[in-house]
Amino acid sequence: MKNKSLVSINDFSREEFLRILELASEFEKKPTQDILKDYVIATLFFEPSTRTRLSFETAVSRLGGKIVGFSDSSSTSTSKGETLRDSIRIVSNYSDLIVMRHPLEGTARLASEVASVPIVNAGDGANQHPTQTLLDMYSIWKTQGTLDNLNLFLVGDLKYGRTVHSLLMAMSEFNTTFYFIAPEELKMPDEYKLYLDKKGLKYVESKDFNEHLHEADIVYMTRVQQERFTDPIEYERVKNVYILQRSMLEGTKENMKVLHPLPRVNEIALDVDDSPQAYYFQQALNGVYTRQAIISYILGLK
Ligand code: CP
Repeated sequence: MKNKSLVSINDFSREEFLRILELASEFEKKPTQDILKDYVIATLFFEPSTRTRLSFETAVSRLGGKIVGFSDSSSTSTSKGETLRDSIRIVSNYSDLIVMRHPLEGTARLASEVASVPIVNAGDGANQHPTQTLLDMYSIWKTQGTLDNLNLFLVGDLKYGRTVHSLLMAMSEFNTTFYFIAPEELKMPDEYKLYLDKKGLKYVESKDFNEHLHEADIVYMTRVQQERFTDPIEYERVKNVYILQRSMLEGTKENMKVLHPLPRVNEIALDVDDSPQAYYFQQALNGVYTRQAIISYILGLK
């Protein structure tokens, strides 16, 4: 398969998810190879990132590929008024695949329509973050031994958090029961609940974090997305709404794991970090293997 972009998690089928996870597992066993030695990968980050950009760049470097790109668009001709359309056409001429993060929803789709090489969406506004979802799925699969029939808690900013939107769509292929833990202002948008309704999947909505916690297989914490609020007073009201404390882990399932796409602000207390349930730092490392799998799959190298 060649020239397939990954813009939305729905661009991949259930079978493709499982294939990517198998590939990630292979890369975890052998992360240093030379399969990208003749390839140039562009990383265009119009919005800040630590994990996504650096794990993509590590993934490519460990496979022998070259990286071009930027982490600050103010140093590019975007600041002179060049359109995204034109920039993508140009970078298509220089590279074999483009990884792009942009603050505006829909820009990854636009880029995929004008690019002559595959586009990998590294986050577009509050819309989608599909490569994060694949690494989240890899982390769930590794820790639970399966993706099927799990109880998945999504906690915090379910309105603006793009990672939870992509994860909901992907995990809906595996008969997941979802628990949405959010304040009124940040609840899961109706379109995603409708999506689950159409698939006949169960979900529970609650403002009380503790009420069902003993049922969780995975607790997926999220940061309240300050950068997406138009009203700073509203952000102040909800920013510390859920903080996972170590004491809350008592009485949870033996193999329950806490995930977080990171960065963390206040939503996980520091004393959770060395608990057996904490998995978020390993999850970020899994991003390297998963992104190696995504790139090699899209380029038809595996
Ligand atoms: N999880 C994630 O997308 O982190 P960064 O914003 O640091 O890339």
